[in-house]
Amino acid sequence: MAVIARQCPNITVTVVDISEERIAAWNDANLDNLPIYEPGLAEVVAKARDKNLFFSTEVDKAIQEADIIFIAVNTPTKTYGKGKGMAADLTYVEQCARNIAEVAKSDKIVVEKSTLPVRTAEAIQTILKQSPHGAQFEVLSNPEFLAEGTAIEDLFKSDRVLIGGRTTPKGEQAVQALVDIYANWIPREKIVTTNVWSSELSKLVSNAFLAQRISSINSISALCEATGADVEEVATAVGKDSRIGPKFLKASVGFGGSCFQKDILNLVYLCQQYGLDEVADYWKGVIDINDYQKNRFANRIQQALFNTVNGKKISFWGWAFKKDTNDTRESAAIYVADQLLSEGAEIVVYDPKVTLERMHMDLQTLWEYRGETETDIKGKLAKLQSVDSAVAACTKAHALAVIAEWDVFQTQDFETIYTKMEKPAFVFDGRKILDYNQLQSIGFTAYEIGKATED
Ligand code: UDX
Repeated sequence: MAVIARQCPNITVTVVDISEERIAAWNDANLDNLPIYEPGLAEVVAKARDKNLFFSTEVDKAIQEADIIFIAVNTPTKTYGKGKGMAADLTYVEQCARNIAEVAKSDKIVVEKSTLPVRTAEAIQTILKQSPHGAQFEVLSNPEFLAEGTAIEDLFKSDRVLIGGRTTPKGEQAVQALVDIYANWIPREKIVTTNVWSSELSKLVSNAFLAQRISSINSISALCEATGADVEEVATAVGKDSRIGPKFLKASVGFGGSCFQKDILNLVYLCQQYGLDEVADYWKGVIDINDYQKNRFANRIQQALFNTVNGKKISFWGWAFKKDTNDTRESAAIYVADQLLSEGAEIVVYDPKVTLERMHMDLQTLWEYRGETETDIKGKLAKLQSVDSAVAACTKAHALAVIAEWDVFQTQDFETIYTKMEKPAFVFDGRKILDYNQLQSIGFTAYEIGKATED
């Protein structure tokens, strides 16, 4: 929304949230306190805020004044009831739709921006029909394709903008209104218009295809380790085929983030609902390989450390699901830490943007979901600490595990780090960002994903 405000000075954008605390943070004079860390975001907010970009908790007022309303609330995976662990929880979307229906007194275009399972627009439209004031609504789907860490750049230079609407004259008019907004900075040929359901489904499918590439290369990384091929060389060779292309072929400790797993699970659930079990199983395989990769990495650490990590200190570089973000949702770090802590390891994390509180919350949520006892949870949480430098994390550590690919990790003084670690000093590079040969020559026992190594 901040980018729309920045690119369209003649449009007033009001971002509303029921959380006073969150809105206060968005209005904070100190831009370091914005609730989200995203490169370039603070600059965009600084330029537009209080000119044509406003942050407020006055939800009803904003609904009444708006011509177009974007619903951009969270749609997490359900943790209860039917579809638990797979289907999207649409509680917040429904609450928004009901709120709009209740207070809107004039006609509006309602845009679903949250990633939603197919046919949600229809449900929103049904709720909106209940407006007591007789207002008319046109619901559009406008999924977001930005990636965290490069969100602002992605929004300025999108590969495409997708807008789905009804194929009625009113629907087409609404689609055009939204096209006109994006056309302020996106070339028309990149703005794709479709029917609502194609648009909703395209978002799930885009993420499924991207995640599938990562799981494909990660599956091959296991084969490379077993056979002596190097996954990076394989990825480069394969990616040179212009039909395949080089992007999203970087083997890793496993993909994370708020979208890939959630969207694939949604797709799987959707297929199951339509009785398409083979299709559901096919896509579920992408998640299975991702889980396998995270486990494999944790197992590799344990196996190299003479089959026990009990009482050993393991340093984690990175907790976020990738570099340049403080988002930790579904981060591989959570699952690798879970496995190692359960085996009695102590973990010390350095992440440039993630707080210890967040790390503990991530693990606590996972363990509570699994039904572990409060005492067990407390005991394990006490064994995960964080420090404020990459070197400090390694002091007296038996092993270093690189989980996220923050640039700052590449320029560390590894000679010094080596002297501070217990010997033999192990490095497990889950992101393939360190210089393997340099590490070996310093004396480390180094391991990287997708490359055969001698223990
Ligand atoms: C993704 C999609 O890219 C974006 O289009 C969509 O709108 C939301 O979901 P995001 O989750 O922010 O964006 O990050 P992305 O850069 O796609 O990375 C997702 C995960 O895959 C990260 O954990 C990343 O480290 C991992 N990844 C990515 C790899 O392991 N290898 C790769 O080659 C690329």
